[in-house]
Amino acid sequence: MRDMQISPDHPLLLRIVDDIATRGWSQQNIFLPERLTRELAAECRKRAAEGELTPAGVGRGPGQEVHEGIRGDHIQWLEPGQAEPCDAYLNLMDSLRQALNRGLFLGLEEFESHFALYPPGAFYLKHLDRFRDDDARTVSAVLYLNDAWLPEHGGQLRMYLEGETSYDVQPTGGCLVVFLSGDMPHEVLPATRERLSLTGWFRRRSGELF
Ligand code: OGA
Ligand code: MN
Repeated sequence: MRDMQISPDHPLLLRIVDDIATRGWSQQNIFLPERLTRELAAECRKRAAEGELTPAGVGRGPGQEVHEGIRGDHIQWLEPGQAEPCDAYLNLMDSLRQALNRGLFLGLEEFESHFALYPPGAFYLKHLDRFRDDDARTVSAVLYLNDAWLPEHGGQLRMYLEGETSYDVQPTGGCLVVFLSGDMPHEVLPATRERLSLTGWFRRRSGELF
């Protein structure tokens, strides 16, 4: 996994770009090699055991508050240079950022992401990832790190599509879901077991607010 790099014209990335262009979201069930998925899951569990994950807040900036009735996950933001598997993931996401920019001219400049651990019973109510007062978050990417997930474990990502339809993604290890942050309402259903993921956002420069 040392120098894992993938080119922005890799067919897997081009498929994601094409899905985003045609329907605003993409699901890739086999995005990550199993070994990297396992290493990232181990890193997430290690950080959780060391008490580095903290209850996620709702909202943005100083007004942010913890509301377990809205979202009950525990998170830690990633920084480059902390752990090899995390850097491999950040490199992959940077290739995806370049692919999205080349294919869709999105002008994505940064990627921010965090580990998320949902304890059994935790959920995240229906929401959009784009904040009302900050439109920098443009594309969301959720990567799952769970071994042998079964539908009866719950914990699906429910995506609300056009019209009355919704679609449930099983949070199975190695699966990546990418969607337009401002367009796709979604929620995380409660699970009967711990649910691990890496969630991130490609950002462009924020529109001027004042
Ligand atoms: C989020 C989110 C989805 C998931 O963190 O904003 O919607 O499936 N996560 O974990
Ligand atoms: Mn979300």
